Amino acid sequence: MFESIEPAPVDAILGLTEAYKADANPEKINLGVGIYQNAEGKTPVQGSVVEATKRVVAAETTKSYLPIPGAPEYSAAVQKLQFGGDHEIVTSGRAFTAHTPGGTGALRVTGDFLKQNLPTSSLWMTDPTWANHPAIFKAAGVATKTLPYFDSATNGLAFDKFLAALGEVPAGDAVLLHGCCHNPSGIDPTLEQWKEIASVIRSRGILPVLDFAYQGFGVGIEEDAAGLREFCTAGDELIVCGSFSKNFGLYRERVGAVSFVSIDADRSKIVASQVKRTIRTNYSNPPAHGAALVTTILGDAELTAQWKAEVADMRDRINGMRQLLVAKLAEHGAPGDYSFIQEQKGMFSFSGLSKEQVGKLKEDHSIYIVGSGRINVAGISETNVDKLCSAIALVVK
Ligand SMILES: Cc1ncc(COP(=O)(O)O)c(C=O)c1O
Repeated sequence: MFESIEPAPVDAILGLTEAYKADANPEKINLGVGIYQNAEGKTPVQGSVVEATKRVVAAETTKSYLPIPGAPEYSAAVQKLQFGGDHEIVTSGRAFTAHTPGGTGALRVTGDFLKQNLPTSSLWMTDPTWANHPAIFKAAGVATKTLPYFDSATNGLAFDKFLAALGEVPAGDAVLLHGCCHNPSGIDPTLEQWKEIASVIRSRGILPVLDFAYQGFGVGIEEDAAGLREFCTAGDELIVCGSFSKNFGLYRERVGAVSFVSIDADRSKIVASQVKRTIRTNYSNPPAHGAALVTTILGDAELTAQWKAEVADMRDRINGMRQLLVAKLAEHGAPGDYSFIQEQKGMFSFSGLSKEQVGKLKEDHSIYIVGSGRINVAGISETNVDKLCSAIALVVK
């Protein structure tokens, strides 16, 4: 039966990690996959998570199933973090939040929901976007289209083009936006621009879907939610796909959440019934452990403070590496102005390196970067920055 099956293409980002692991060069550098690394190149378990794990394990009395949308305490904690504790969306009960296996699970539940309940809607995404976005929605059977986002001439946001194209999206379609720390470009709209985007979306009757995978990695935990909250005024409907893989370092525990915000609490109950059906026929109910850690941390003032400090440390290290990268590129004589890297937000930077230059960095210098030129800034350290910048200077020259 399996003889006629062709091999699937290697995943562009995870395939790079495989190639990196197989490389025998002791000075190899991996700037591919989106995982935070500390100055020693490690991705340790955060202190708040270590403490929460002890408490969760000590208090656990059963491994019985969770409800289809996960534990209600987790959903409440997610809503508080994303929308703000006293936000009308939270107090009115018009948001339904389900715990999903990671942000990817949240996106897939969204895709299945759109296909099943709004079958004629297309989903528009930014060009570029996270490589898995089009693949997830294609797998769910949702038609996808693109909106211009990146301006290669300025290494910035092509805002006017983006807004004009948004103004042409048909009513009833959905638009997938990155709530903060746009992956792969690192370029986020300003608050003023978010306001304009939200206004066009509202006036055209488009459904916004916010992918919110990096809360706290841009400017701050509250500040990073400001764009998303522009879509949250009374009467707005939206979907938020969140992930705690990065900001809690819970990658392998698969902790994410999808929130469907309806016009009122009655409509929310109907939407919830459809979301639960979607989940039941996919993975039935979520894994418990990672979400219990998040709930424990966000439910304890001391642990929350510790976690916020840990997120700030990660953010500060990334921003420090951005500055160091720009300075070292100049020091090593790389032609061009790279100061735009300092303006970008989150873990990634669109370096402006071409596919050929990325290929040469891999072949000649054992430096692994995604083909689009996206660099994981968290993979840079004081130890490897000189090797990296001298190699970039060589291939760019
Ligand atoms: C933009 C974006 N969305 C969602 C995710 C999904 O993260 P996870 O499924 O690991 O929680 C990622 C992970 O890299 C991402 O970059």
